[in-house]
Amino acid sequence: MKILVAYAGKSGGSREMCLLLASLLPNHEVVLCDLAEAPVAPTGFDYVVFGGAVRFGKLHRAARTYIKEHGSALETIPHTLFLCCAFADQFENYAEMLFPAVLLEGAEDIVYFGGELNPAKQRGLDKIIVRMMRSAIRDSEDDEAMLPGLLPEHVRMLADRLRQL
Ligand SMILES: Cc1cc2nc3c(=O)[nH]c(=O)nc-3n(C[C@H](O)[C@H](O)[C@H](O)COP(=O)(O)O)c2cc1C
Repeated sequence: MKILVAYAGKSGGSREMCLLLASLLPNHEVVLCDLAEAPVAPTGFDYVVFGGAVRFGKLHRAARTYIKEHGSALETIPHTLFLCCAFADQFENYAEMLFPAVLLEGAEDIVYFGGELNPAKQRGLDKIIVRMMRSAIRDSEDDEAMLPGLLPEHVRMLADRLRQL
């Protein structure tokens, strides 16, 4: 089966999770696509995994452009959507806000790939913002509050399902 794994991120988390996914699908012909570099149209693929990073409540620009240009083609192809974001409790809200209803309704799954707040992977203002976000989590009244991370186990579960196709 020909599978397109298309992602848009800034600091490497979405890319890392999509590389992992591709490596776990040896029985399929997988095309990995960084939407910010060279977008690949969904047409001609049997299945598409599509998504990207959330910053300031918005989906990465390259993913938004892809939805505008290829959303109607994507609707017609079996697909799974994913998001990379640090605030797990906001994942469902973000998915509803950031993907068109028709893509959500048609999706076989909508998967949370986790999200990092790692200042070492950020530059300039982003580094400062990530440090502030980390402090806010650490200083929160919820003693259980933990710093977020990527979720390769969610990617492995998705891969287990896609290997059966
Ligand atoms: C400047 C900045 C803003 C962010 N804004 C949000 C946000 O609004 N909601 C959220 O859940 N995570 C937010 N994050 C966390 C990112 O979603 C997280 O770092 C994710 O792993 C980024 O994916 P990427 O490495 O593929 O770019 C933000 C991160 C940065 C650096």
